[in-house]
Amino acid sequence: MLEVRDLSKSFGGLKAVSEVSLTVGQGEFVGVIGPNGAGKTTLMNLITGYMRPTSGDVLFEGRSIVGLPPYRISHRGVGRTFQVVRPFAEMSVEDNVMTGALFSGARTNSLKVARKAAELPMELTGLTAKRHVAAGALTLGEKKKLELARALATNPRLLLLDEVMGGVTRGEVGELMEVLRRIHSAGVTIIMIEHLVEVIMELSQRVMVLNFGQKLFEGTPDAVVEHPAVIESYLGKPLEADAA
Ligand SMILES: Nc1ncnc2c1ncn2[C@@H]1O[C@H](COP(=O)(O)OP(=O)(O)O)[C@@H](O)[C@H]1O
Ligand SMILES: [Mg+2]
Repeated sequence: MLEVRDLSKSFGGLKAVSEVSLTVGQGEFVGVIGPNGAGKTTLMNLITGYMRPTSGDVLFEGRSIVGLPPYRISHRGVGRTFQVVRPFAEMSVEDNVMTGALFSGARTNSLKVARKAAELPMELTGLTAKRHVAAGALTLGEKKKLELARALATNPRLLLLDEVMGGVTRGEVGELMEVLRRIHSAGVTIIMIEHLVEVIMELSQRVMVLNFGQKLFEGTPDAVVEHPAVIESYLGKPLEADAA
């Protein structure tokens, strides 16, 4: 489904992403971990068109998507969430979810079609009962659910998640994990960046570890936690309370 080939991104002298390759099959749930500054968000920005790679290629369903603007990559079926959520605070939950359908995936300018497209995402994320609540009044965990629902309204076959759990309460982490299981069960392929290692280990079938822009290791969750270099570079150190 997704093939990342020798992808690199330099900012001046800094190689934020360095020759990273990754293949993701349809229906997989892949986790990406690594310390702050490892290049996780940059990798996601490269895949979704928010940044152009210095070199390398990204193929989605067999076709290169490098150089396409984000909205066209979204039309192709690649959705994403942002590490820092910025819902339209004055707008209702439902209207926020509808923006996903209006501006990205469904390619519609019909409010009726967009309203319908918002139904399933709200249901999957457990937000249906809050549909008329202003987004600004939601808890952080609910805002993260809203971010997921908005991304789902673009109707993605592949969904990239950037630190969905960042800053939310313990209880909300459990709820969000349930939501992610539901989304995955509904047939959406998922690549999840997450600093909560235990969440990645529980949800992912395969984990990629990034360090200083490079792929340090890739394998099953069990293999990752036993890998000496991973333990030394990441797991052995105290985890950051919240990633920037
Ligand atoms: N737009 C940018 N301009 C310059 N440097 C950047 C930019 N975005 C990220 N970086 C740098 O690239 C490195 C990787 O950042 P990032 O991808 O955000 O890491 P992560 O998401 O793993 O914490 C960091 O050193 C960061 O400072
Ligand atoms: Mg990041």
